[in-house]
Amino acid sequence: MRILGVNAVFHDPAAAVVVDGRIVAAAEEERFTRRKHGKAPVPFATWELPEQAAAWCLRQAGLEPSELDAVAYSYDPALVDDTLDGVDSGGWEKLRTLYARRAPAFLRTALPGLDPSVVRFVRHHVAHAASAALAAPFGDCAVLTSDGRGEAESALLGEYRDGKLVELAHQRLPHSLGLTYEAATAHLGFRRSSDEYKVMALASYGSPRFVSELRELVFATGDGGFRTAAVPWEHFAPARGEHAELLPEHADLAASVQRVTEEVLLDLARWLHERTGHPDLALAGGTALNCVANTRLHDESPFERVWVQPAAGDAGTALGAALALAADFGEAVEPMPGADLGRGFDDAELEDWLRRARLPYERPADIAATVARALADDRIVAWFQGRAEFGPRALGRRSLLAHPGRAANLDRLNDVKGREQFRPVAPMVLADRAAELFTRGPLPSPYMLFVHDVAPQWRERIPAVTHVDGTARVQTVESEEEPLLARMLTEFERRTGLPTVVNTSLNTAGRPMVDDPRDALECFGSAPVDLLALGPFAVSRGGGPA
Ligand SMILES: [Fe+2]
Repeated sequence: MRILGVNAVFHDPAAAVVVDGRIVAAAEEERFTRRKHGKAPVPFATWELPEQAAAWCLRQAGLEPSELDAVAYSYDPALVDDTLDGVDSGGWEKLRTLYARRAPAFLRTALPGLDPSVVRFVRHHVAHAASAALAAPFGDCAVLTSDGRGEAESALLGEYRDGKLVELAHQRLPHSLGLTYEAATAHLGFRRSSDEYKVMALASYGSPRFVSELRELVFATGDGGFRTAAVPWEHFAPARGEHAELLPEHADLAASVQRVTEEVLLDLARWLHERTGHPDLALAGGTALNCVANTRLHDESPFERVWVQPAAGDAGTALGAALALAADFGEAVEPMPGADLGRGFDDAELEDWLRRARLPYERPADIAATVARALADDRIVAWFQGRAEFGPRALGRRSLLAHPGRAANLDRLNDVKGREQFRPVAPMVLADRAAELFTRGPLPSPYMLFVHDVAPQWRERIPAVTHVDGTARVQTVESEEEPLLARMLTEFERRTGLPTVVNTSLNTAGRPMVDDPRDALECFGSAPVDLLALGPFAVSRGGGPA
């Protein structure tokens, strides 16, 4: 079966193609349109589709829209509870529902030749669940999804038996861990549905001194569900304007919200383990991008292994909806081969872009060795290799790399990216060396979705990637799976004694991650990056030798 998955309803529009149970392509619309998150997270944007991402996914699969057996749309308007209008839609819920119902007609317009009768609505949390459990390397497992909201619910707990979802519990709106966390995000002066990870980073600077009061409002009910009452945020800390100063009570509030979220998730996981007895847990939904909570689930829940869908936010429901439909059709679904499911370019295309830009470039014998040398010389490197990542994390395809031993590199990178100085950057480390540098948290950790403790003897040696609380969000690199990255890391270690480099996403302030060669050149041209490694080619700032 040839299935196109589409996420459009809330934010992070995305598309994916699954053919005969195998993932062929997945991409977010923002990487094409260069508008972060693709569109505004408002009901009157629900009609906007991931047009370019869908067209590219079909091209990558060699399919015409007319050849699709199904389109899986990750929201079922028939399940919306209209009595809940106002949970997050400000009176526009019916418009959102209407747009979702009309999606087949909109899709026909966006993808000429498509038969609108092949469009199937897939329940939002079923799409999240499939994006986790069917993409995980486990086979049958337990699954927990949690986000801001789906049609009428904000969490789902279940297990996969013989590749089919058996639902055990769900939490209906208005109770929502995601919406509560989003409300805290807005109160703290950040962008709702976008900047939740800043609250997580800020939490490390505070003490969770409001947690006992918050527990009265946000708590697990012991039956696979939870309650979230309206939180009087002003009672804890004043609302912060976007550019206003961050006060200690803001950090304390972030720490308290973070703590109570972790506690509820842990309770849900324990309940789920009790019901299923599975050793393995798969996670998705926007809440599963919370690396600190994920590590607590790994360390403190009874599950032995925890796997998180790298595109855990709504973009991942495009993939999940397609996988869920493939499973419904009785197809054997193959686990996700990696997060590099987006666009890739061959050497001739890359060289063409460099020629067109009239940039002096060279083709060294080994780009990995050239980059390792530049990093050892404390240069900042834009690293553009292979197919782009699906999901918000840079995993060595569209990355900005730096020397981890220089504390000042955190500020240098945050300057390139226009980020707040309290935001950490992450280490990429050779998998077979990771346990020496990082304790607590699961290893290997190929998708950068957990936090780890930096071993005390290493903290001074890699200050740029050690967060204020002594943690780091690690990406491990296996040499069999990632030979180019592993070679770069090995060569960097030979030169510096450090088996790790700083890795953050390749983008400038407020822009989505770089996706195609033009984005890479624009980023290189406008930001203080010293070397661009575009496939096998090296471009040095100032035109000097790489
Ligand atoms: Fe969601």
